[in-house]
Amino acid sequence: MKIWVKRIVTGLLALLLIYGAGRFVDVYSGSFYTGERAPYLMMPAPRAMTLRWQTAKPGQGRVRFGRTPGKLDQQVTEASAAEEHELRLQGLEPATRYYYQIENQVAGEAAQTLYSGKDYWFVTPPLTGKPAPLRFAVLGDPGYAGVMQTEVRDALMTWLAENPRPDRALPYLDLLLTTGDNAYRSGSNKQFQQGFFSPYRTILRNVPIWPAYGNHDARRWAFFDIFSLPSEAESGGLASHTEHYYSFDYANAHFVMLDTTASSMTVGSEMLDWLQRDLAATTQKWIIAAFHHPPYSRGSHDSDNRRDSGGRMFAMRKNVLPILEAGGADLVLSGHSHMYERSYFSGCHYGDADTLQASMLRDKTTGTKVAYKKPGRDGYSGTVYMVIGSSSKQDQGRLDHPVMAVSLAEAGSVVVDIDNDMMIARFITRAGLVADQFSIQKTAATGQAVPCS
Ligand SMILES: [Fe+2]
Repeated sequence: MKIWVKRIVTGLLALLLIYGAGRFVDVYSGSFYTGERAPYLMMPAPRAMTLRWQTAKPGQGRVRFGRTPGKLDQQVTEASAAEEHELRLQGLEPATRYYYQIENQVAGEAAQTLYSGKDYWFVTPPLTGKPAPLRFAVLGDPGYAGVMQTEVRDALMTWLAENPRPDRALPYLDLLLTTGDNAYRSGSNKQFQQGFFSPYRTILRNVPIWPAYGNHDARRWAFFDIFSLPSEAESGGLASHTEHYYSFDYANAHFVMLDTTASSMTVGSEMLDWLQRDLAATTQKWIIAAFHHPPYSRGSHDSDNRRDSGGRMFAMRKNVLPILEAGGADLVLSGHSHMYERSYFSGCHYGDADTLQASMLRDKTTGTKVAYKKPGRDGYSGTVYMVIGSSSKQDQGRLDHPVMAVSLAEAGSVVVDIDNDMMIARFITRAGLVADQFSIQKTAATGQAVPCS
């Protein structure tokens, strides 16, 4: 080999080695976030709530709590010292606001109060099955820190403040759901802090979070360490015995969170088997499912492309939708495509876009302010599918999937209100405008459900 060729090859190898070492250091150091993480709430139940937070120094955590900020008359303390803290408050009253204070006891030092005052509160869910009003927000692919994320968040908070719920005792939101990709680019612990916990900290201290598991979350191992998720039906539903997928209840609504990123979606797989049993077991009036990969999308991903995202959108549509629809799903939330798409009131569409038949659109009303009527669960008549993937990033796409009534290249978030028989969902853009709105009203079931032919 000529000397100059040798030199180039050696130089390239050296560059590759330096790059590889840099990447390794970056990945390794990013996986260990050692700073503070403000409190966040998980696994709400009518009588329990989990609080988590992180401290820079190891210490024993203590939560004092009570019904007014000036009278925190109950407390729980951790058994041992650590930087990552988790305490589950038990024996709470349903539908009740609690204020809390977090302290840290470092060995040999005086206990330090880290978070306290009137801004630190949560409200327990009402008893399951009760038709109490529910308001939740959905952030889609929210974990990219930047101006768009801040604008979407602020537009959501402004809209909520300007459109408060009728009862002042109710919190501004009961729950916060995501459709996955909670921390770009790789879901490392450090990126979770920068892309998720820091920007949303004022919401997360009051509103329990239910995060879907996205493909970017799965690039590292932080997701299941950071989040406390139910495997034994801690928040209702049927125990799944895994944190990857689970269900929970709130008032008269049943939520199903699926893992479209790492769990098998083949017919007869554990997740699908559990899903079938879970939906058969619930008697709740409303069924809402959330997961990352959309069954229908022509945004920055194409759900008909078998090579796109490892065919997971195709598998979701073909294998999971029939179970969700047979189980009476009213609303299906997903992300991954960085835009907003919302379907007609539809059912039985499990093939590619070009196989959509007119009969699959159960209500063909177009426009951005529509009202669908739907019989109770026994007389299944349709589902609305939403792709919410633009809460921190917004991309381009064809936006012409025929099952979609509305497709927008807009950044934003979604607010859903449920009150007894009525659901209203709104897409709030980064400019604070309601760019889409639909409602579903449940009516008495008449006759048998029409099966898919
Ligand atoms: Fe994704």
